[in-house]
Amino acid sequence: MAEAYDFDVLVIGAGPGGYVAAIRAAQLGLKTACAESRETLGGTCLNVGCIPSKALLHASEYYEAAAGGAMAKMGIKVTPELDLPAMHAQRIDAVKGLTGGIEFLFKKNKIEWLKGRASFESADTVKVGDRTVRAKNIVIATGSSVTPLPGVEIDEKIVVSSTGALELEKVPGHLVVIGGGVIGLELGSVWRRVGAKVTCVEFLDQILPGFDDDVRKEANKIFKKQGIEFRLGTKVTGVQVDGGKATLTVEPAKGGAAETIEADAVLVSIGRRPNTEGLALDKAGLQINQRGQIETDHDFRTSVPGVWAIGDVIPGPMLAHKAEDEGIAVAENIAGLTGIVNHDVIPSVVYTMPEIAGVGLTEAQAREHGDVKVGKFPMLANSRAKTNHEPDGFVKVIADAKTDRVLGVWMIASVAGTMVAQAAQAMEFGATSEDIAYTCHAHPTHSEALKEAAMAVLGKPIHI
Ligand code: FAD
Ligand code: NAI
Repeated sequence: MAEAYDFDVLVIGAGPGGYVAAIRAAQLGLKTACAESRETLGGTCLNVGCIPSKALLHASEYYEAAAGGAMAKMGIKVTPELDLPAMHAQRIDAVKGLTGGIEFLFKKNKIEWLKGRASFESADTVKVGDRTVRAKNIVIATGSSVTPLPGVEIDEKIVVSSTGALELEKVPGHLVVIGGGVIGLELGSVWRRVGAKVTCVEFLDQILPGFDDDVRKEANKIFKKQGIEFRLGTKVTGVQVDGGKATLTVEPAKGGAAETIEADAVLVSIGRRPNTEGLALDKAGLQINQRGQIETDHDFRTSVPGVWAIGDVIPGPMLAHKAEDEGIAVAENIAGLTGIVNHDVIPSVVYTMPEIAGVGLTEAQAREHGDVKVGKFPMLANSRAKTNHEPDGFVKVIADAKTDRVLGVWMIASVAGTMVAQAAQAMEFGATSEDIAYTCHAHPTHSEALKEAAMAVLGKPIHI
């Protein structure tokens, strides 16, 4: 009864998971639609996430290089003036260009965009606005949104989520960031670079949970040196807004006396939670787990035949590239091919300066599995980083002590986000540290630090 279906595939959500799934499904010859309630395609990532944050990170980095003396050090004397509206305009332009690009790709691939919020009527029927459609396969790719902090009301003016923090109309005198994770550090860096005093309040004893401990410690030192103040092991119990200012009440995470911090703006960045509200999952016979996520098997099938899920709404790191790869895999699986994502090799990058990146196991995780060998190489000893006045950071390679197979690679370097791709590829191919150490790397490049860290695993780096 194939003709009873309106579509072979209906994707709900046009973020990096959903739009990629829709494009791949269409490329494979499946009649595809994608429901999206936003005015533009691209989801969190293109509209209010990866892209606008990188636009501001890039621009503010130039500003700081000019204002902070890094350019003068290289013989370029400038007296910069901050034009914040223009900085925002180029951010908006970047978003517009890329979201428009997805719309073009939808048209090119004959994907129908069903505009509006989707909710299930049954396991194969979905209502989008006034329209009810039946699809043979439905992919839930509804993404995630900001986790609220009890006692703290986000007004997107003084107390902002990442979305409001991307759009501040003036540089806050004092910005307090709640949460020393990826968003807090990236957007905290943006506003610090253009003149804000930034204080980061983190519940845990160290920033960047999930990253390798050496990287977390070193990153903390670097951000402190850059001027971010950290209140680690501290929790925020409330925020009061009065007369355009905020007063935060904080106390030690382990208990103790409360104190207050005054701020001109507060960024709440304590994590994100899956979007399942309003989907009427019960009508499809679906349930969420304790963390609010939709569980799937390795093929991205949910417990209900014909319903699939990918991206931030399922377990795993909330990252655009993870969502995209799952988008390709789910479409291939729907088409009867073999779509696989290796969840053990998903790189993470924090796009600060220097960048912080890692892939695979942390040293602590690797040690839980058995004996390991660790090699480290400082960027200070890398000729290109030193020449470019980028001495901060290191590369760390963790390998199995017996087999030498690389289990994890962690790094802090100005171009770590680009360098980590090589590490991910090596790990995907089952490389040993010897394989990396004996691969010829171009000179002078930051990537030579990865080669030397691999040589350090074997006990013989050249430049330290
Ligand atoms: P989303 O991108 O969240 O897209 C889901 C879409 O579904 C949304 O457009 C939503 O409107 C739509 N939707 C939801 N419910 C419905 C419904 N019922 N009906 C119709 N449509 C619906 N990740 C990185 O890898 N690199 C980065 O640099 C990076 N930077 C980030 C910066 C910020 C400030 C933020 C907030 C996130 C960042 N992320 C980054 C994370 C990244 O944005 C997410 O991991 C990624 O967008 C997840 O993709 P997704 O397709 O699962 O969901
Ligand atoms: P996060 O999970 O990275 O960090 C949240 C931080 O807040 C943690 O350090 C946590 O310990 C802390 N925290 C939690 N509750 C707290 C409290 N009550 N008080 C103080 N601190 C508290 O989450 P974040 O930064 O909000 O980012 C959300 C998601 O978006 C992440 O999963 C991340 O993967 C993704 N993202 C990815 C980026 C990238 O890849 N470059 C950039 C930005 C976001």
